[in-house]
Amino acid sequence: MKVSIIGVGNVGSSLGVALVAQGLVDQLVLVGRRKEKVVGEAMDLLHASAFTRPLDVIAGDMADTAESDVVALCVAGKAEGPVREGGVISNAELFREMIPALAKASPRAVLLVTTNPLDVMTTLAVQLSGLPPAQIIGSGTLLDTMRLRVLLSRECGIHPDDIRAYVLGEHGDSQFAALSSASSGGARLPLKSALLNRLAKETVAAGLDIYRMKGYTNHGVAFAAARIIRAVALDTHEVMPVSTLVHGSHGVRDVCLSLPAVIGRKGVLKTLKVELTAEEVQAFRRSAKVVKNLLRRVAAV
Ligand SMILES: NC(=O)c1ccc[n+]([C@@H]2O[C@H](COP(=O)([O-])OP(=O)(O)OC[C@H]3O[C@@H](n4cnc5c(N)ncnc54)[C@H](O)[C@@H]3O)[C@@H](O)[C@H]2O)c1
Repeated sequence: MKVSIIGVGNVGSSLGVALVAQGLVDQLVLVGRRKEKVVGEAMDLLHASAFTRPLDVIAGDMADTAESDVVALCVAGKAEGPVREGGVISNAELFREMIPALAKASPRAVLLVTTNPLDVMTTLAVQLSGLPPAQIIGSGTLLDTMRLRVLLSRECGIHPDDIRAYVLGEHGDSQFAALSSASSGGARLPLKSALLNRLAKETVAAGLDIYRMKGYTNHGVAFAAARIIRAVALDTHEVMPVSTLVHGSHGVRDVCLSLPAVIGRKGVLKTLKVELTAEEVQAFRRSAKVVKNLLRRVAAV
C-alpha cells in the first residue's frame, strides 16, 4: 500500500501520524513546499513507525508519488483562516497545478481531498483529474458526523461507533444532521428533539471553536482521512458519509456533497439512498447551491 500526502502542514503531518499508528501503509511519500520541514517530518515518522510497523518514508516530489494507491491532498495556499472559503481561489490554483499530474502519475489511485472549502475542492479534483469520479473522495462530513456522534454518545451512554446518525451535505455551515434517521441498535435515539437540535448546532460550531482555541484543526480530519484510507486499503466496504460526486440524489447533480457511501479499494463503490424529510432535502439542496456558487466564483478567475 503506497500513500502520498501532498501538503505537510498541520493536517498532512497529523495524517502521517495516524497512518503510522494504523500500520497499513508500506510506503509513505511526503510532498511539501518547505523541503527541510518535509525531510524532518519524514525522519520523525520513520522513527515513530519503529513502534508500530516499520515503513518506507520518502520526502519526495511529485514524481515520487507515481503508482500510489491513495494520494491525500492536504495542501493550502494563501488566505486560510477561520472561514473555510477564505482560501478558495489560491487552493483552486494549487489544484489546477497539481491534480492533472498527480492523476496521470497514479491513474488507479483514490484521490482523497481534505483541503477546504472541501466540497468545492473535491468537485474540482473530479473535474481536473479525468479519473472516474468514484476514485475521488472528500473527507466531507465524516468528521462532522463523528463530532455529532461524540455528543450523542455522551447523552445516550452508547459508543459513538454504535450510533447511526449522519451529518450530510456540505462540510461547512450549510451542513445538516439527518436526525430523522438517527438510531442505535435499530431503535430511535431516546433523546428529545430540542436536545438533538442543540447538539447538531454544537456540531456545526465545533470546527470554529477549535480554531479559536488552537489556531487550526487537524487531528479530527486526519483520523477521518486515515479511516477512509483504511477502508480503501482493506477493501472493507464500510459506510461513511464522504464527499462524492452526486448524480441526481434528492434533485442534486454535478457537485460533490456528502452522502453515506460504501468505501472500498476502488473508492466510492456506491452511495446509499438515505430517506430524508422534506426539510432535510431542502437543506441538502441548499448545500448544493452554496457549493455551486463558490464553484462559479472559482471558474470566473
Ligand atoms: N476537511 C476538514 O475537515 C479540514 C479540517 C482542517 C483543515 N482543513 C483544511 O486542510 C487544509 C490544510 O490545512 P493545514 O492547517 O494543514 O494548513 P497548513 O498551512 O498547515 O498546511 C498546508 C501545507 O500545504 C503546503 N503547500 C502549499 N503549496 C504547496 C505546493 N504547491 N506543494 C506542496 N505543498 C504545498 C504548505 O507548505 C503547507 O505546509 C486547509 O485547506 C484547511 O482548511 C480541512
